[in-house]
Amino acid sequence: MDLFDAIRQRFSYRGAFLKQSVPREDLEAIVQAGLDAPSGKNMQTTSFIIVDDPELLDSIRAIASHNKPLQSCLALICCVIDQYPEPIYHDFSFQIEDCSAAVENMLLAITALEYRSVWLDGMLRLESCAEKIGAILGIPPNKKLQIMMPVGLPAEEYPRREKRLFHERAWFNGWKHD
Ligand SMILES: Cc1cc2nc3c(=O)[nH]c(=O)nc-3n(C[C@H](O)[C@H](O)[C@H](O)COP(=O)(O)O)c2cc1C
Repeated sequence: MDLFDAIRQRFSYRGAFLKQSVPREDLEAIVQAGLDAPSGKNMQTTSFIIVDDPELLDSIRAIASHNKPLQSCLALICCVIDQYPEPIYHDFSFQIEDCSAAVENMLLAITALEYRSVWLDGMLRLESCAEKIGAILGIPPNKKLQIMMPVGLPAEEYPRREKRLFHERAWFNGWKHD
């Protein structure tokens, strides 16, 4: 799939997934896209845990029982960063940005391979969800689960969100220029 088609076709899928496993070679290609993402000072701070073991997935489902895509996915990509990121440029750490760049690359790769996914982040911050899933996956205390992405083939239609028009959010040569 052409890159611009993948960008346009990507959307957050929050429906159920088909009971069809995702081949490891596809999961590796998706995560490789994450590994290839840019990172601040090329520090490559994000690590990835790919979950396709049914028992592990069941344990994770039990923690986030309200999340529909998580309930039926047969593969889950978990992105891990430092719990307390060290500054690497003046006082700044770029670990959140590094992780976000990797996630967007992976979402595009997922779309290009005709799978669906959704960026799960906000829900991890509630009720110690990230810590509970981190414990299941053996994530050490100095690391934290930042973003997860269920991956699979869609079992249902799910509406796309409309984006605002170019001229409403982007201008040449100055803020709100015509
Ligand atoms: C930083 C960030 C956090 C997000 N957290 C969640 C989340 O916890 N659960 C969820 O369903 N979607 C989450 N999303 C997906 C957004 O809700 C989604 O991208 C937005 O509604 C636009 O829809 P689209 O992805 O279909 O373009 C998150 C997206 C970002 C960038």
